[in-house]
Parts: sequence; C-alpha cells; structure tokens
Amino acid sequence: MALKDKNILLCVTGSIACYKSIDLYRRLAREGANVKIIVSASAAKFISPYIFKSFGEDVFADDAFKSPLAHIFLSKYADLILIAPATYNTINKLACGIADTLITLAISASRDKPKVMVPAMNPDMFAGKILKDNIDKLMGHNFRFVSPETGNTACGDFGEGKFPDINDIVFELESVFKEKTLKNRRVLITAGATREYLDPVRFISNASSGKMGISLANEAVNLGADVSLIALNIDTSCKYINKKVKITDCIGFNDLKETLMDEFKQCDILFMAAAVSDYSFKEESPTKIKKTGKGLNIELIQNEDLLKAISRIKEKKQIVFGFAAETDDIIDNGRKKLVEKSLDYIFINDVSQDIIGRDENEGFLIEKTGKVKRFEREPKAALAQKLLAEIN
Ligand code: CTP
Repeated sequence: MALKDKNILLCVTGSIACYKSIDLYRRLAREGANVKIIVSASAAKFISPYIFKSFGEDVFADDAFKSPLAHIFLSKYADLILIAPATYNTINKLACGIADTLITLAISASRDKPKVMVPAMNPDMFAGKILKDNIDKLMGHNFRFVSPETGNTACGDFGEGKFPDINDIVFELESVFKEKTLKNRRVLITAGATREYLDPVRFISNASSGKMGISLANEAVNLGADVSLIALNIDTSCKYINKKVKITDCIGFNDLKETLMDEFKQCDILFMAAAVSDYSFKEESPTKIKKTGKGLNIELIQNEDLLKAISRIKEKKQIVFGFAAETDDIIDNGRKKLVEKSLDYIFINDVSQDIIGRDENEGFLIEKTGKVKRFEREPKAALAQKLLAEIN
C-alpha cells in the first residue's frame, strides 16, 4: 500500500479513453490515496465531472479564471500529479511550457514534484515524431511515462496507443514512492511448478501457482532491480507481471536446470520459489500410452537438487533465497534445508494451512545466522515487500 495517504492530483484530459479514469480513480481510492481531480474542458465533453463528485471527491473543472489561485493550491496539495489519459495536445503543450488551462497551470507550479503521464491516443498520433521528441524532453525533466498498450483503438486502427492496464499505472505510481534499494542489482526468480512428462499428454507436477514468485518479481522491479523470471508452466496472461520483468518460459526439470545454471552466473540474488519435481519418469514414451486392462508399473528416478548444485558454483557476494513446503516440524525441516542447500535465507510455507494457489501466504523466514521470524497471513504482494526488505 505505497499509495496510502498520498495526495494525488488526477488530471483527466480529453482522449476518448478518459472514461477509464473513473476506474483508475476508484482503484486509487481503494489503495488508500487521497485524490483531487481536474477534468479538462475537452474531457468534460466525454465524461461528466459529476461522476467523480458522486464519489465525494473534490473535482475541479478546467476554468482557471473562476478561482485564480486554484492551480497553486492544487499543486501544493499534490504529492504526485497523474495525467491520465494524457492527450497529444497536453503532452506537446507541457513540453513547450505552455500553461493555459488549469491542468497545465497546476503542472507549471509543481516544481520537482513527481509527475506521471499516461498517453492514450490514435496509434498514428502516438507514432508522431514531434510527440516522441516532446516525450523525450519531458522525461529529461523527470516526467515519467506509462507506455500505452498495443491493440485495437477506439478509432478502429491497430497499434500502440491504448490506455494501459490500470495495474501498470498503479505500479508506476507506487514505484515513485519507493527507494531504489536494488538499483543495479540483478535478481533472478524461479516461479511455478515443473512438469515431468510420462507421454505426450500425461505429466506429474504440483499445485504451486507461481504467485509468490511473480509478487517478488514485481516488487524487485519497484525497488529498481533488473529482474529475470524463469516461469514454469504459469499462465502469465491472467496474472499481472510488470513489463520490465524479463520472462523465460521453462517446462520440465532439465529445461529449468539449463536455464537456471546459465542465468545464475549473472545474478546477485536468486529467489528459488519454483516447486521443482523431485522425480522424473525413467522413460518418457514418445507416443500416448494405451491402457492394457492390467496395472501399470512406472519407474521414477530422483532429480538432482538444483539448490545444492547452485551452492557449488555460488560466489560469496551472491545471495540465495530458498523456499520450503512443509506440513510438519516445519521449522526443524526448514532449518535442515537451509544448511543442506547452503542457503542465505529460507522461507517456509506451512502447506497444511491451505495456502497453495492462494493470493495470501504465511510462514517463517530463517536466516543463515539461525534467526527465525514469523510472517502472518497477508497478500503475497505485501509479503514480497517484506521479504525483499529483509534482504536489504
Ligand atoms: N529444490 C531444488 N531442486 C529440487 C527440489 C527442490 O532446488 N530438485 C528447491 C526448491 O525450489 C525450494 C527448495 O529446494 O527452493 C525446497 O524445496 P522443497 O520442495 O520444500 O524441498 P525438497 O528439497 O524437494 O525436499 P522434500 O520434498 O523432501 O521436502
């Protein structure tokens, strides 16, 4: 909840996407932010400012002369100014220092307060050279931009210009308020569950969803790290993963081993959140196995322990963070794994507590020093923040 109690000045300008600012506003309110809103004269032709007023918010119509000092008051109020959607016109005007509306006036008086722009427009307009030059110029003045999405826009064209996912916007806002404690650090995360195939259609795996690893990846980006995620059989389309996370998809143990060993050499911190199959089938049939009317004996062979393999090549400056799924004697079992696998940290999930696949998690963190800390059940995103803070 990095936005809790933050004062956000939401400036809505006249793109067809401005109706999406209503959902954006509601999300900011849910995150605990205080919001004041300016609706530009063009935006007010698409959506009525009364929509925001009905939520009880302070809404200012773009009439700079009605209240001559409103832009100063609003600018002083804001911890952050969010322009969403930001039109071609507004972006270009701001880059030229034009201040002829309540929104551009408020921004002109905002000094070095953080400003986040969310462009949304026709793809041909977004591709325009003048706009690109002005975006570069504003970035040089510490304006941040959330890139639009590629897709079908309201005008029927296809390309980059759609109002982005609200999660992407909130992510960028949160990151404004976070200290970049992992700047220049490379963080590698494994998430999800391996699949070991018996034949082309059957496999063994487990119920790990990958949500904890994804939460760690998003949070590490927020702290300024370069993040690589090795995703094991995760349906990434239905989970929010920030665009800055580099994703490599893997399926089985061998695939994971090869990618992990290669990427580990370049990383500073490894979070081994993936559930790795301890066994594979001795033989994988290239064709579907048919039933015979009798029982079927299948031989499994034990897979190598990847964290033990990592510990043999680990350099002193690298941090390795393991996870453990336990149902009983959880602290003792976790401690044993920490030692056997030469880990710096281990987080023990008590899987008897109905947490697999859920959005929340709880458990114990054990450090190499032997220190144990309990973490109560909370959303995985919040837990990820705390685990990264422990490492810092
Ligand atoms: N792990 C690994 N290689 C394996 C199995 C697990 O590197 N072949 C890693 C997991 O990614 C996790 C940690 O080891 O970070 C602990 O995994 P867990 O499944 O709890 O324990 P195991 O070591 O497999 O032991 P057991 O299943 O016997 O409890």
